[in-house]
Amino acid sequence: MGAPDPERIPEPIETLRPRLLKTAPVDPPALGSAADWLATLPDAAFAALRLAAPRRRPLIQPRGGFARFEDQRRLTMALADAGADFVPLTIDSHTRHNDYETAAVLLERSELEDANLLNGYPLVNHGHDVSRGLYRDLHRPVSLRHGTPDARLLVEIALATGITEIEGGALTYTLPYTRGYPLARALMNWQYVDRLCALHSTPTRPIHRESFGVLTATLVPPVLVAAIELCELLLAAEQGVRSFAVSFAQTGSLLQDMALAKVLREAAVDYLARFGFEKIAVHLVYHQWMGAFPHDYERAAALIAAAAQTAALVGADKVVTKTKEEARGIPSTETNCEAVRLVRYVLDHAVLPTPLGSSAVEIEAARIRRGLDALIDAIVALPPPEFWRSIALAFERGLIDVPFAPHEANANRLITRRGYADGIYVDDPGGVPLPPDVLAEERAALSARAAPPGETLFAGLMHDILLMAAETRP
Ligand code: 5AD
Repeated sequence: MGAPDPERIPEPIETLRPRLLKTAPVDPPALGSAADWLATLPDAAFAALRLAAPRRRPLIQPRGGFARFEDQRRLTMALADAGADFVPLTIDSHTRHNDYETAAVLLERSELEDANLLNGYPLVNHGHDVSRGLYRDLHRPVSLRHGTPDARLLVEIALATGITEIEGGALTYTLPYTRGYPLARALMNWQYVDRLCALHSTPTRPIHRESFGVLTATLVPPVLVAAIELCELLLAAEQGVRSFAVSFAQTGSLLQDMALAKVLREAAVDYLARFGFEKIAVHLVYHQWMGAFPHDYERAAALIAAAAQTAALVGADKVVTKTKEEARGIPSTETNCEAVRLVRYVLDHAVLPTPLGSSAVEIEAARIRRGLDALIDAIVALPPPEFWRSIALAFERGLIDVPFAPHEANANRLITRRGYADGIYVDDPGGVPLPPDVLAEERAALSARAAPPGETLFAGLMHDILLMAAETRP
């Protein structure tokens, strides 16, 4: 039985830390420097406190990372001025793959050539001392956004920089982002990260962790998003994390957005209690559409506004914003700020006292929950005594199977399509242990969408994937 266990004593990381810190290419932080620096910051810099405070609307979180310090500083202050409640630090993809040498070369060239040759901020190469200057007089929490299977050094430096929210997780930052990074190794790395966040939490000021339930953003069924989010929540809880956000991306179906939000909120509470974890704050994050985006600026802006409204409808605690440049590349600072102002405008007029519900949402949520419960039961019933090992085995055996994941060990046997109310439903579960009645209902929801006569499987799939980007809808 590999159930999560609050009594399990995690491996001490104190002996690992000094060795890891020495591998920093520049300015290795001293062992206590992150804790000392965090202690000097105001409460306003703590993501966990911002999320726990009362508020009228979802908090706003853009993305953004540039190679050079000056550009990043300008972006940071401009996003805060535009009304972002959380400021992002998006990391470049060489750093995400621990290739600090290439990041260093491209950072230097960016500085010499007055250009941006990285798709994010190379935090490890700038180092914590310089990077603290990004957040002078900011008075807002900063969120580390990356996609790194081995984020141990990155997170050490982020904490030493004063970043209080760490996105990611072993499953969600490995399966969609890498071809071959061994999941078992990623699980070990993320134990370190979670443990490090717990170690830098104080009773009143915890370091906040956020999962990335977006996964591939391509026809991932809600039941699988929920299962993976619950796994990462429980893994973090085992390491002592006390403030955590589960997340998901706009599904393309308003019905499923509302149902999945309800399932995630309720299941998080139920599962923490079931496995004996106490006093963990759980929040819900909603990502604006993460699939193929319309090129057309008007449609892109409309999609962003509609997604903001949906974030309020589902009762999200935070919404991660897109920009109208999404189909083209990395947004300029101005475009990014424009999106923050647009989302803020919608949210200021979308105040809801509690999330809305309906019988259709209840039915959808109940089915997702039954599938989720079956899947978690199957994972914890696997033979390994430790939860993380059971998760690794579940992935190996295809119980966890992420549609369109580039990872070579992903089973790719789970087949989904869009059906009733544009929702994503399971056609073939592969090795995912969905109860027969759940599967029958999923298939019934699929038969509600009549394919045009003669439509090939490929054309049908493209229709489902390009839901928001196709020029016209059939
Ligand atoms: N700046 C702004 N947005 C970024 N994204 C990735 N890198 C950056 C960056 N440096 C966004 C992409 C995509 C999401 C995963 O993150 O546009 O929407």
